Amino acid sequence: MIKGEIIFDGNEKQVFATDDPDKVIFRYKDVTVAYNNIKRARFVGKGTLDNQISAILLDNLNKNGVETHFVEVTGDREQLCRKIEIIPLEIIVHNRLAGSLAQRIGVEEGFRGNNTIVELRYNNDDLDDPFINEDHAAALGLASYDELKYMHKQALKANKILTSLLHKAGIELIDMKLEFGRASDNGAIIISDEISPDTCRMWDEATGEKLDKDRFRYDLSDVVASYRTVYERLKQLEEK
Ligand code: TYD
Repeated sequence: MIKGEIIFDGNEKQVFATDDPDKVIFRYKDVTVAYNNIKRARFVGKGTLDNQISAILLDNLNKNGVETHFVEVTGDREQLCRKIEIIPLEIIVHNRLAGSLAQRIGVEEGFRGNNTIVELRYNNDDLDDPFINEDHAAALGLASYDELKYMHKQALKANKILTSLLHKAGIELIDMKLEFGRASDNGAIIISDEISPDTCRMWDEATGEKLDKDRFRYDLSDVVASYRTVYERLKQLEEK
């Protein structure tokens, strides 16, 4: 696969064209950002860990019937992915309430509600990714009602699969953000962004310790060491 021109240069990753019009290369940087890019830092080794963790999680979804863009790892910090047309929505699944959601509705960090919560945000940095509902999304032409229903269903399926996988690694999946796109090769709606400690909350089941980006958000130190713990535990499962 020949790496071509850069087609997206984000804070935390870049996307490159390839000689296959239906494939792109994702390259993970060591940079991390939070609070809509207000807080920023560089952690050596983070990009490689995000690449590896995301590869394991996306591959697991592919193998369990939830289609994603992931094809294969092509380097330390790079992976080959199916090209998609972006659907500018964030589908956020909460198994427990934490972070800004817990604050917003006045419950303690880690509150366990009666059910899983799925939220929808319009992926638009200028507007600070506002919360919207399915009527807004359909009205804006971002996706049809049928597509929204499908993404909701796939998000819950992905949540079930990854909750179970991470549990085997002694990690509880607290929440996660998913993005979907329309695959350029067959038009299918597939998960099309990373799934990693940058986009999920993951807590050590035994100690309750945070193993995700909250370590950076809340200046808890050991950011890279925590991501490495997640990777090593997942890797061990793969080797079993
Ligand atoms: P959420 O509780 O909605 O926001 P916050 O991070 O402000 O508490 O976040 C739920 C999960 O989704 C969390 O693990 C972070 C992730 N997420 C992203 O990766 N990108 C985003 O733009 C948002 C809003 C959340």
